[in-house]
Amino acid sequence: MIIAVDGPTASGKGTIAKALAAHFGLPHLDTGLLYRAVGRQVFLDGGDPDDGGDALAATSFPDSLLDDPHLRNEETGGLASRVSVHPAVRQALFDRQRSFATQPGGAVLDGRDIGTVIAPEAEAKLFITASVEARAQRRFLEMQDRGVEVTLEAIQDDLRARDERDRNRDVAPLAPAADAMVIDTSALGKEEAIAAAIDAVRQVV
Ligand code: C5P
Repeated sequence: MIIAVDGPTASGKGTIAKALAAHFGLPHLDTGLLYRAVGRQVFLDGGDPDDGGDALAATSFPDSLLDDPHLRNEETGGLASRVSVHPAVRQALFDRQRSFATQPGGAVLDGRDIGTVIAPEAEAKLFITASVEARAQRRFLEMQDRGVEVTLEAIQDDLRARDERDRNRDVAPLAPAADAMVIDTSALGKEEAIAAAIDAVRQVV
């Protein structure tokens, strides 16, 4: 069984994907981490994230980079969003995601184009969404917890810019698959969102 979980930044898709993996006993891949690693590697190499050639060269990052705490910060998220517009970068990361998705026994993958491009045959496709305000508020609290100084307005502006780039790129734009089940988590707590996702998957498997 393949479970595809797509959605915008801070929609709760990562938390939901992890919980689904634990619930159904499946391995989980956060595909955003791959794009983040490319963004980080471009930065470490002094390359230009908007140059497809530089970004492509950075797709061969060491696996140890996936454990780098810098990968989780907003700056790397922005770099990931910029390198991910290049078709050659998406292509270079395709096989790794595809092998993970098609391993015997199944898998849960979360990202932007799992249900549309990486595993269109997935038995369960969820599209997790939430208002910009709700997502910004969550991100704000998370960052305050980590002691990062930031304003709610700055986070909203950043989320809008990333949404815009992710939705309007030519290749694999962020959009629900035609057969995806859409879950809006704006008004849901974490446990409610997880329960809604488990229910949605149960309906189709
Ligand atoms: O999900 P996360 O915020 O970690 O993803 C970082 C960026 O990587 C996203 O803004 C998006 O541009 C890109 N991405 C993508 N396709 C995926 C996963 C992430 O384009 N499957």
